[in-house]
Amino acid sequence: MTISPLQKARYQYEPKLPGMLRSGVDKIAVKEGEPTQSVADQETIKSLFPNTYGKNEITFVEGESTASPDKQVVGVILSGGQAPGGHNVICGLYDALKAASPENVLIGFKNGPSGLIDDDFVVFDDEFIDKYRNTGGFDIIGSGRTKLETEEQFKVAADVAKKHGMNAIVIIGGDDSNTNAAVLAEYMAAHDTGVQVIGAPKTIDGDLKNDDIEASFGFDTATKTYAELIGNIERDANSAKKYWHFIKVMGRSASHVALEAALQTQPNICLISEEVAAKKMSLSQIADYIADSVEKRAANGDNFGVAIIPEGVVEFVPEFSALIAEINELLAGAKADEFNALPTWKEKYEFIKNGLTKESFEVFDILPENIQQQLFLERDPHGNVQVSLIESEKLFSALVANKLKERKEKGTYKGKFSPLHHFFGYEGRCAFPSNFDADYCYSLGYNAALLIQNGFTGYLSKISNLSKPAAEWVAGGMPITKMMNIERRHGEDKPVIRKALVELDGKPFQFFADNRDNWAVETAYLYPGAIQYYGPEEVCDLTTKTLKLEQE
Ligand code: FBP
Repeated sequence: MTISPLQKARYQYEPKLPGMLRSGVDKIAVKEGEPTQSVADQETIKSLFPNTYGKNEITFVEGESTASPDKQVVGVILSGGQAPGGHNVICGLYDALKAASPENVLIGFKNGPSGLIDDDFVVFDDEFIDKYRNTGGFDIIGSGRTKLETEEQFKVAADVAKKHGMNAIVIIGGDDSNTNAAVLAEYMAAHDTGVQVIGAPKTIDGDLKNDDIEASFGFDTATKTYAELIGNIERDANSAKKYWHFIKVMGRSASHVALEAALQTQPNICLISEEVAAKKMSLSQIADYIADSVEKRAANGDNFGVAIIPEGVVEFVPEFSALIAEINELLAGAKADEFNALPTWKEKYEFIKNGLTKESFEVFDILPENIQQQLFLERDPHGNVQVSLIESEKLFSALVANKLKERKEKGTYKGKFSPLHHFFGYEGRCAFPSNFDADYCYSLGYNAALLIQNGFTGYLSKISNLSKPAAEWVAGGMPITKMMNIERRHGEDKPVIRKALVELDGKPFQFFADNRDNWAVETAYLYPGAIQYYGPEEVCDLTTKTLKLEQE
């Protein structure tokens, strides 16, 4: 296999562990903290997790080892979308298990949770692991989005674990996967299987965080990658001075990625979905907000700019959500066949006009025709509109163009508007992990092994104090049930880890809000450049601005 010079060099990188984990696995002891309670709905969650609820928070300290001397056979799964650093979680887990005893075994289940159910696996050894150290991607074993949530699946998982003599499973995933990890842990405990379940917080979206988990891994590298690209575009925009760039960035629901990219690059515009929802903004108001910046900049002779659009924003626009709900209803069941049988878009358009309420039709009618067609033509297997496929960067630039046309007719705007469109998502999910993510992920994996060896189950591997140098990081574990509340999902009340949205009274958003009016008019671009892996610490070991502001 031919590998790049960087990949070769990264094999040699030694991830930094929290200080308290540096003296060797045989010198790490557990310090028990306080018993925990779920963030809400305590009685209900307690009744659903009788074996795993209310356990103590724990931290690791230097001291006489409290770990079990028994042989450990551990399974690991990658779940959901790729996030930089996943390989290092597995490497850290492997190294800690092998450091405790060369007899210990780490089994990787392939292609996500389904690998456990299908018993599709690989047993890791040094040669295998060494090829993935400090690299991006999830290709070490692959990932998948199958959910482990039914009793039947849990039973199969228990049988597979028994077959391999496994005493633990580590699930590397986001809020849903870790919610399922908690349910699986409870099942394993209730059925006396002797199998522990430990989670690790993953997602580039950054929405698995709370009072205990300061950041999900992958967010740091992904946002730095997008910020590099956005900074480069800003510099191009400022050089050519002729384009407005509309850049959609990933983040299925929350706007953490967009906000962090904006903090790093200071674009003219960044929409924050949570604010759009809180202010109940309409599409027209959002378009006016962007057009104001275009107009003011044009008045200064700057017919260029950069606008960041979070992937999930349209779902946060109340009138748009209402339109989507009506379309789903309009095409439910047999009505979809009637619609599909109409030969031309003109006839389909009339069908839509007659089927929607006046309010929703008005919203539909201001959309550009290609977006209108997208709403009706690309639906999921249940017939629902696939909101994630909507090209919101094109939607907003088209709406802004309409606004500018009106303003030109009124004589208030005299500039030129040439939009270009980009979508940054997959570009960032498998980048070589930044030093931060390489260190954080390795520590999460190493720490997960310690949680297992010390007999914990239903815990999330927790590394905190992350805005400080790694030597000052704190390693430990938190019961997943502590992060749970009851939410309505698919018509049922379910215990779930609460998803973290951007907090409008939080410091990262406040910093953005304090500066954005200036950025909207001035050219205040910041050019962060590419992730640096070697060189001065102040360049290479930077955390995200979000984390820095949150922990200031
Ligand atoms: P996870 O929450 O599973 O980590 O995935 C996040 C994400 O990258 C979103 O930002 C994006 O909307 C989605 O996955 C894309 O999913 P897919 O890889 O299935 O296209």
